[in-house]
Amino acid sequence: MQLRTVRATQYVTALREGGSLPAIVAADDLGMYVLKFRGAGQGPLALVAELVAGEIGRELGLNVPELVFIEVDPALGRNEPDEEIRDLLKASVGLNLALDYLPGSTMFDPAAGEVADAQTASMAVWFDAFVMNVDRTPRNANLLCWHRELYFIDHGAALYVHHDWETMLDRAESPFRESKNHILLPWATRMEEAEERARLILTPDKLAAILEAVPDKWLLRDHEGISAAQKREVYANFFTRRLKASSIFREEASRARAQLV
Ligand SMILES: Nc1ncnc2c1ncn2[C@@H]1O[C@H](COP(=O)(O)OP(=O)(O)O)[C@@H](O)[C@H]1O
Ligand SMILES: [Mg+2]
Repeated sequence: MQLRTVRATQYVTALREGGSLPAIVAADDLGMYVLKFRGAGQGPLALVAELVAGEIGRELGLNVPELVFIEVDPALGRNEPDEEIRDLLKASVGLNLALDYLPGSTMFDPAAGEVADAQTASMAVWFDAFVMNVDRTPRNANLLCWHRELYFIDHGAALYVHHDWETMLDRAESPFRESKNHILLPWATRMEEAEERARLILTPDKLAAILEAVPDKWLLRDHEGISAAQKREVYANFFTRRLKASSIFREEASRARAQLV
């Protein structure tokens, strides 16, 4: 698996919805992207989560806007009046991650009568529990409607267990209580089927290829004494174990769904 690399040419505007201050930018391929900054407060691991979870979602058949690496050079946004944005750009010079910008998309809103199909919803609930993504709730859906289809965005908070390497593997088999707040849970009537499909799709080779795409620098931290390859191995083991034990979080989600109705 290989992500394209583009260069940001113009800072268009900041997106102030969440906390990480992503931006809409133009790039040298004439595309428009939503740039997730390496220098944001959440740190490079948020980009690791964005990439790894996003590509897993795509493998599972969910729509995820194309992810690309994006180069930020020191000239970008030099004239931005906002100091917070200038600092963010300065801290992010070099490689960052971006998603294809979906113009005219709107946030999925069940309160406005929007619905999801059972297959997509079931896979989405399973996927978010697998990658431990807490950001798919009615208050913070991170789910865009675009050309009558649902697009899954913002996976930076997924895999939160990777912030503590030592305990990450111990948490691979845990249920995921946040499923009860999943925005698509009401439609997730076919989770067993979704799980069966996911288990066939997510082979060790596919997961390894996704992990291979993560830049070493995003994985490494000073004074940890562990290599990027060793870290990828931890993620790979985590996913293998979580996949094997997935009935634990799938049953948890089913129970949560039963409580809804
Ligand atoms: N690919 C995209 N196309 C269109 N709009 C997007 C895209 N990605 C994000 N957005 C918009 O920007 C907002 C913030 O982006 P998001 O990735 O959710 O970051 P955060 O929640 O950390 O600020 C989203 O809620 C959405 O409205
Ligand atoms: Mg968000």
